[in-house]
Amino acid sequence: MTHPAAADLIARSNRLGSDPKNTNYAGGNTSAKGTETDPVTGQPVELVWVKGSGGDLGTLTEQGLAVLRLDRMRALVDVYPGLEREDEMVAAFDYCLHGKGGAAPSIDTAMHGLVDASHVDHLHPDSGIAVATAADGQELTSTIFGDKVVWVPWRRPGFQLGLDIAEIKAKNPQAIGCILGGHGITAWGETSDEAERASLWIIDTAAAYIAEHSRPEPFGPPLAGYAPLPQAERRAKAAALGATIRGIASQDRPMVGHFTDTGEVLDFLASSEHPRLGALGTSCPDHFLRTKVKPLVLDLPSDAPVEDCVARLKELAVAYREDYQAYYDRHATPASPAIRGADPLIVLVPGVGMFSFGKDKQTARVAGEFYVNAINVMRGAEGLSTYAPIDEAEKFRIEYWALEEAKLQRMPKPKPLATRVALVTGAAGGIGKATAKKLAAEGACVVIADLSLEKAQAAAAEIGGSDVAVGVAADVSDEDAVQAMVDAAVLAFGGVDLVVNNAGLSLSKSLMDTTAADWDLQHNVMAKGSFLVSKATAKVMVEQEMGGDIVYISSKNSVFAGPNNIAYSATKADQAHQVRLLAAELGAHGIKVNGVNPDGVVQGSGIFASGWGANRAAVYGVEEKDLGKFYAQRTILKREVLPENIANAVFVLCGPDMTHTTGLHVPVDAGVAAAFLR
Ligand SMILES: NC(=O)c1ccc[n+]([C@@H]2O[C@H](COP(=O)([O-])OP(=O)(O)OC[C@H]3O[C@@H](n4cnc5c(N)ncnc54)[C@H](O)[C@@H]3O)[C@@H](O)[C@H]2O)c1
Ligand SMILES: [Zn+2]
Repeated sequence: MTHPAAADLIARSNRLGSDPKNTNYAGGNTSAKGTETDPVTGQPVELVWVKGSGGDLGTLTEQGLAVLRLDRMRALVDVYPGLEREDEMVAAFDYCLHGKGGAAPSIDTAMHGLVDASHVDHLHPDSGIAVATAADGQELTSTIFGDKVVWVPWRRPGFQLGLDIAEIKAKNPQAIGCILGGHGITAWGETSDEAERASLWIIDTAAAYIAEHSRPEPFGPPLAGYAPLPQAERRAKAAALGATIRGIASQDRPMVGHFTDTGEVLDFLASSEHPRLGALGTSCPDHFLRTKVKPLVLDLPSDAPVEDCVARLKELAVAYREDYQAYYDRHATPASPAIRGADPLIVLVPGVGMFSFGKDKQTARVAGEFYVNAINVMRGAEGLSTYAPIDEAEKFRIEYWALEEAKLQRMPKPKPLATRVALVTGAAGGIGKATAKKLAAEGACVVIADLSLEKAQAAAAEIGGSDVAVGVAADVSDEDAVQAMVDAAVLAFGGVDLVVNNAGLSLSKSLMDTTAADWDLQHNVMAKGSFLVSKATAKVMVEQEMGGDIVYISSKNSVFAGPNNIAYSATKADQAHQVRLLAAELGAHGIKVNGVNPDGVVQGSGIFASGWGANRAAVYGVEEKDLGKFYAQRTILKREVLPENIANAVFVLCGPDMTHTTGLHVPVDAGVAAAFLR
């Protein structure tokens, strides 16, 4: 059963963490102390429950808490070897765990255990960090809060910071918390409510003080030519630049992108001080791994032509990488972890917005949220004083901290398609949906395109939230609609690397019954549609310079000739030759083009459900529901072909093992000798 103190702690944490003014995503930690009966001795034992490493306060549950014995934590003070070796204390926390110990204790555990208060909150509110990063933060702290809140000069999170704060609490009985220079706030109380009130009072008092005393234009006067473009124009420009920017951010390792044109970013970029502030970088320790020390900022006005922006971004990327390497070289010691890549994680484009990057969509999105936090912090600090983040050497120590490195090394191995952005046409159902599902399950972000927005979105929702799959409407036979679909993919995930030309339909008719309209419809969707999709997506892939895959779902009928199929089979043969033509043309850009030839996929197929199945069943004299089994009996392997079998073949063609194959068609038909390739 949950101890009442832990229950209070979880409820308080969820309330605090669900309001972004209080702390950034997964930032900060909270704790509660209480007494339980030790099952071993039957005696009371004092415990501390504290948010474990990595979790988020807004969604904290009991599983996210570490549970430690206070007597043993307090005893650590006597063996603490001093500042130089404080990192060793993290391993010592394992010897303080109670029972199975719960979640892994974080670096901030010492602060929670050593501060003598029943409930402790450590948070990263924008308003609090604004005071914490103001050049005269110490004076501001006493002006704003009197003696209720104490200033703690910057110190890296760890055992010593815990000791410092414990001492401050002991020496200042009137205090309810402190401002941690360069970092955030800590507050405490004897009850959970008291701690929560203390946290909120510090956050709200700081915010109110900033609102009242800030200078009118904290980021300086407007910069001529840097005002935000109208929404449609900035989205169009973001889509046009997206692939180049993703390529820039993915030189060392491929990244997923996130785009936002939120007002905070646009206002920042429209003001004269943004180049100076952008170069100063972020401050709160949480930020460095997520956003790197500083962003790449395009130094061209909002209406600069796309070609000029592309050329300048490429120059700035070279400079950014040199600058980052120099920063690493200035501070790295032989014991430092290896450089983790020199590409920017945040790219700012005046008038347009911000691109942020990460190993998956959630990480990319959160990096962007963190930079918005940084903008809010800079606005507050500059409004009252001068923004003065911690110095570069300290930033480096945090970014390349051995403990952070160990955390990264413990991360599970990424899935085979992690970082890849897949676009599957005709993916609201049938083979397309099964393929999108498989690619997502293997780690890709997927864009589901189909005629109906509603159905595309429903299929996306079935696969996962918007960090995994998004649905867009697109008629692949319409060139503008195809471009809009590709733009949507770029804005959703930063670009495109894996395209599945799957949209299709089949009207089985004899030559005499096939009308010109039947011919046009099938050729427009399949031959022309996949040509348009390949063209628009290949442009993105070429700009990204990250290679890519295009897979055509053609058909057994692209090679097999039977009656009553003139239009469908001819357009499938067209698609099949597009595979070879584009494999030959796009190989120079590292783009592989392959095809899958399915046959007899009855289950889940809209093509079969919409009359074709009934027609085929009637022709063969079987019940429609038995058509799949009937087809199976005609195959060499006597197996029914399912949408998942096609999806698996697509994955193999694009996956990590099939790196040297292009221009190939893979039959997935359970063996049809008449359709063997030769
Ligand atoms: N089912 C089979 O046995 C079989 C065999 C060989 C090839 N194929 C091919 O596999 C692909 C998928 O077929 P399925 O069996 O899953 O059928 P399906 O009808 O379930 O899926 C096709 C999807 O394409 C969409 N679509 C149609 N026209 C479109 C357009 N203009 N723009 C965007 N989307 C459009 C449809 O809305 C549908 O969701 C097709 O290209 C088909 O020719 C299927
Ligand atoms: Zn912190």
